[in-house]
Amino acid sequence: MSDDLLDNIFEKAAAGKTLVKNRRTLTIDYVPEKLPFRDEETKTIAQALSIVLRKARPSNLLLFGKPGTGKTAVAKNVIERLHKKARELGIEVIVPFVNTKTANTAYKVLYEIAKDMGINKGEKKLQVHFTGLSMGEATDRILDFIQKKKFYVILVMDEIDSLVDKNGDDILYNFTRANERISEGGFISLIGISNSLTFKDKLDPRVRSSLSEEEMVFNPYTIEQLQKILSDRAKLAFNDEVVSDAAINLCAAMAGKENGDARRAIDLLRVAAEIAERERVSKVEEKHIRLAQEKIEKDTNYEVLKNSTAHTKLVILAIIKSKNGNTGEVYETYSSLCSLSEQEPLTQRRITQIISELDQLGLITSNVVSQGRYGRSQRIKITVPTLTIKEALKDDPILLHYIDN
Ligand SMILES: Nc1ncnc2c1ncn2[C@@H]1O[C@H](COP(=O)(O)OP(=O)(O)O)[C@@H](O)[C@H]1O
Ligand SMILES: [Mg+2]
Repeated sequence: MSDDLLDNIFEKAAAGKTLVKNRRTLTIDYVPEKLPFRDEETKTIAQALSIVLRKARPSNLLLFGKPGTGKTAVAKNVIERLHKKARELGIEVIVPFVNTKTANTAYKVLYEIAKDMGINKGEKKLQVHFTGLSMGEATDRILDFIQKKKFYVILVMDEIDSLVDKNGDDILYNFTRANERISEGGFISLIGISNSLTFKDKLDPRVRSSLSEEEMVFNPYTIEQLQKILSDRAKLAFNDEVVSDAAINLCAAMAGKENGDARRAIDLLRVAAEIAERERVSKVEEKHIRLAQEKIEKDTNYEVLKNSTAHTKLVILAIIKSKNGNTGEVYETYSSLCSLSEQEPLTQRRITQIISELDQLGLITSNVVSQGRYGRSQRIKITVPTLTIKEALKDDPILLHYIDN
C-alpha cells in the first residue's frame, strides 16, 4: 500500500469529527456521581447502614426492582461514600461487593468474598485455599477470619436472584446465621440486590425473614425521568450539540415504554452513536436511535433463540410452517417435526406453556380470532425475521433444514 493512501486514510480519520468525548461514561460499569430521582432510595439505604459508624451492626437489607432501575448504581454510590466517611473516622468497614450472576458458582462467590476481604494477605493459618474445601468449610473460614479480625463487614450480593435460582439459598442461610457464631467485636450485614420481584418466595422462611430485615423497592423510571437521565449522560459522553433533543426524547420514549429501564435507554444511545460514527455524520439523530433499537432487538432475539431448548426451537419451526397458526395445527406440525428429528414430543399442555413464554418474550404474537360459526381460535405468528431465526439455528443443521421447505 502506498504512503499516500495510508496518509489519506489517517488524515480523513483525523479530520472527521468525533462524536464521543468520553466513551467510558456510556459503558455498563460507569456509575455517575449524581443519580437523579433516587434520593429517597439513597437516603433510606444510607440511614440503614450509617449505624456502622457507631460501631453497631446495620440491619440486613433487601433491594429489589426490575432491571435498569438503578439498584446497583445506588448501592455502589452509598457504599463508596460510607467507606470514605468510615476511613475519615478511623473505622474500618469491609465491603465486599460480589455480582453473584457473573461469579456464577456458589464456590466462586465465596472465593470473591474472601478475596475482597483480603483473607490471603494476612496470617498464613487463616488463609483460605479453596481447592478441596467443602462449601461449609470455606464459609467457616471466612467467618473465623471476620471474628479474629473483629471486622465490620457489609457484604453486598448483587443479582442474588440468579445465585438462588442456580444454587439454592445455602450460602445466604450461612451468612444470615453468621452473627450467632461471630461473637465479640466483628459482625456481618448483608445487602441483597434482586432483579426479580418474586425472589423472596424462593427463599427458606428463615432466610427470608432474616435477609429482609429492611426492604426497598426500586420502581421503573417514567419517560420524563429517563429524558433527564439521558440528557445528563449525553452531556458527559458527547461533544456539544451532537445529540439532538428529538433523539433523546425518542430514546426515552422507547426505553420508557418497555420497562422504564435506564440501562436500555443508555444502551440505545451508545449503539446509536456507534451507528452515526460509522456513517461519518456529525449528529446522532432519531433515525440512529431507531436503527439502534432494531439492532439491540435483533441481538437479543438471536441470543434467546440460540440458547433455547431443542423443543422450543421445534415449536418455533412449527409456527413458521403451520398455515393457519392455530394451536392445534402448531401442535400437529410440532409432533411431526419431532418424529422427523427422532425426538419424543412433549405434551400439548407443555407446548401451550412454551408458546406463552415465547409470547411474553415478544418472539411471537398470538391473537384470538373469530372463525364465524366455527367458533374462535388462536392465531400465532412469528415476529422475528426468518433471517435472524436461520442465523440462530445455524448450529442445529437438522433444524435449519426444515425452514427452507
Ligand atoms: N437515576 C439515575 N441517574 C443516572 N443514571 C442512572 C440512574 N439510574 C440508573 N442509571 C444508569 O442506568 C444503568 C442501569 O442502572 P443499574 O444501577 O445497573 O440498574 P439495576 O442494577 O437496577 O439493573 C447504569 O448505567 C446506571 O448508571
Ligand atoms: Mg444491577
